Amino acid sequence: MNFLSLIENKREGKILAPEQIQEFIREFTAGKIPDYQMAALLMAIYFRGLNTAETTALTLAMRDSGDVLKFPKDKRPLVDKHSTGGIGDKVSLPLAPLLACLGFRVPMISGRGLGITGGTLDKLDSIPGFKTLLPAQKIIAQVQKVGCVICGQTDKMVPADKKIYALRDASGTVPSIQLITASILSKKLAESLDALILDVKFGCAAFMQTKSDARELAKTMVALGNKCGTNTRAILTDMNAPLGRAAGNWLEVKESVECLENKGPNDLHELVIDSAAHLLVQTKKSKSLAAARKVAEDCLNSGAPRKKWDEMLIAQGADLKAFNQKLARDFTAPFVLELKAEKSCYVSKCDARIIGEVIRDIGGGRLTKESQINFDVGVDKIAKPGERVEKSETLCRVHATDSTQAKTAIARLKTAFEISARKISTSPLIHEIIG
Ligand code: URA
Repeated sequence: MNFLSLIENKREGKILAPEQIQEFIREFTAGKIPDYQMAALLMAIYFRGLNTAETTALTLAMRDSGDVLKFPKDKRPLVDKHSTGGIGDKVSLPLAPLLACLGFRVPMISGRGLGITGGTLDKLDSIPGFKTLLPAQKIIAQVQKVGCVICGQTDKMVPADKKIYALRDASGTVPSIQLITASILSKKLAESLDALILDVKFGCAAFMQTKSDARELAKTMVALGNKCGTNTRAILTDMNAPLGRAAGNWLEVKESVECLENKGPNDLHELVIDSAAHLLVQTKKSKSLAAARKVAEDCLNSGAPRKKWDEMLIAQGADLKAFNQKLARDFTAPFVLELKAEKSCYVSKCDARIIGEVIRDIGGGRLTKESQINFDVGVDKIAKPGERVEKSETLCRVHATDSTQAKTAIARLKTAFEISARKISTSPLIHEIIG
């Protein structure tokens, strides 16, 4: 193919035919198009955009660049949730076992941290022995037997996205609505889902900084998911403050278990229950969102999802005894230090971006692709906007590798909090439902 003229056409704002898109995805995946030319096309797409037909063709070509999971016929619907990413966003962890207990099959193919946002696989890697890299046959077998799996994409699943994503990351072309849509949906469509709920985040620590950009991304993904045969809905959620009270890989696993034991923070509980409730409605297992919420709450209260979590851990090779011993400890990092309120006050702001940057910089995230993550570092006991804190009470606690690192982190974390003498009204967590 003449890839140069295809780049030039897109540069001039022309429409690419589905066959051209299929061909360049095939050729690029096979290593026949150099990275510099693909990067040039991505930049042309970033500026010129793709129309609906082009975005559909790109998504399907990327899905078909590798294996699509094929599940046996079963009355349990195949469902999943995808979040565009944030700080403290651990919803997938308690949600997968909850959905399995609600009679779904959940082939949750997840990713690693991107930028300052945490990744589900990095969180799970903090569990002793837990394996996140599974072959397709094992993924299918575990979904059929246990009801849920949380693992990474195999080498053979959506290889086009793996290559294109790395180029986007290195060429400043990540924040394109059509490229994000194709990237996310190609992976989700490769799971052969019946229904998908998308958590599209907006705010200072999200990819989409404004609600209107998040809405546009959500609308694009919902329309395309439905067109491709997966019942798709999106919720727009606030990512200005962290979700829950803990951020950092192991600390988030700990908080997820608390959520499964109904002892977790309210915002995390709300998002887990609502994500499950939407999927119950989308698959017609419940007639209304209110009825579905009650079904999901009752299921969580029954304790079955907590047991299902252990079952999933064992199925994926975790050492349950070592996991429970780790869970029993207040902290596993070498050093902890608390940030205390200097006077009695209400929290008016808790900036998720600053908290995410601090965690990344103390080793909880990656500064380069080669960075080794320290799973035990992070921030917990986070006071949230709208809450009252008395003088000398904790605003947050940092888990660090040594005292110098902890002190530097505390000085930066101080700037994440704004306080006021009066209680401020807080905005809701879930702003809109699309689809
Ligand atoms: N997550 C993805 O998988 N792809 C994107 O492009 C952005 C977020």
